[in-house]
Amino acid sequence: MRFARPKTFFAIALAGLSAIAVSACGTQEITVASSTPAHSAAVLFQDRCAGCHTLAVAGANGSAANPRSGMRNNGPNFNVRKESYERVIYAIQNGGFSGAVMPQNIVSGAEAKLLAAFVAKYAGADVNTPPSPGAMGSGSSAAAAPPKQDLAALGAQVFAQNGCAACHVLKAANAAGKIGPTLEGVGADTAAALNTAIVNPNAEIVPGYQKGIMPANFGQLLTAEQLTALIAYLQKVAR
Ligand code: HEC
Ligand code: HEC
Repeated sequence: MRFARPKTFFAIALAGLSAIAVSACGTQEITVASSTPAHSAAVLFQDRCAGCHTLAVAGANGSAANPRSGMRNNGPNFNVRKESYERVIYAIQNGGFSGAVMPQNIVSGAEAKLLAAFVAKYAGADVNTPPSPGAMGSGSSAAAAPPKQDLAALGAQVFAQNGCAACHVLKAANAAGKIGPTLEGVGADTAAALNTAIVNPNAEIVPGYQKGIMPANFGQLLTAEQLTALIAYLQKVAR
């Protein structure tokens, strides 16, 4: 399936239909209707993001490892990862969540908003909610609830893999983010309160902070098991 399209592409190119630079490596054809805002966004995505991210509707394949350079700049595959508008804006402004690889502010202003709306709409097309644990990179079984220790260990992974450290202080995770409040001490909260704080962050805002900064889609991004594990982890280490 995945390989069908490049073949067509080569066939067309061989037929001599057009010899113009078909695309940079890692890009294929855009599949959203032309002359729509989504199409402009897809073009922008191909231009600025496709080198490192995969997103089928934008014909982008950049998440696949580059066999020639072996560069480790490949970003998450948006066919299998859902994203919220806020999360994309955040990633664009801050250079991803680690700030280590993705350049900051490749686009800004209206272009950034257009792209964020586009990615939020189309990312995750290949997953049924909730995303499979495999897609999130943690392959633990969804069987019976694991013992508490394992839960907290899984929770540490969930914390590390979801960008929490970019915004929060948590010594146990070596996290020193300054955008949100420190998490030291939140481990004393009930599981229900932590659940709300993570899944529905705008329900109650910590005094001195603003609404809409913490991504509001962790409820969709995380499986129930990952969420339980994350809460168990905070209850254990954030004291
Ligand atoms: C040079 C490679 C590179 C380019 C170009 C790039 N990214 Fe990224 N991006 C990454 C890497 C690597 C990560 C994962 C590591 C991190 O979060 O710091 C990432 C993370 C992200 C995330 C967070 C994903 C998640 O769920 O953790 C979003 C959203 C994102 N990129 C969107 C974009 C958009 C939109 C563009 C185009 C404007 C873009 N990126 C361009 C490399 C890139
Ligand atoms: C883009 C920045 C950002 C990211 C990423 C982020 N948060 Fe937050 N978080 C905030 C901000 C800002 C607040 C304060 C506003 C509010 O209460 O929603 C907050 C509030 C919280 C609170 C409530 C704290 C309290 O004192 O009651 C918890 C718990 C929390 N975040 C956990 C997490 C976890 C766990 C993750 C990762 C799954 C995460 N956050 C990711 C920015 C972020």
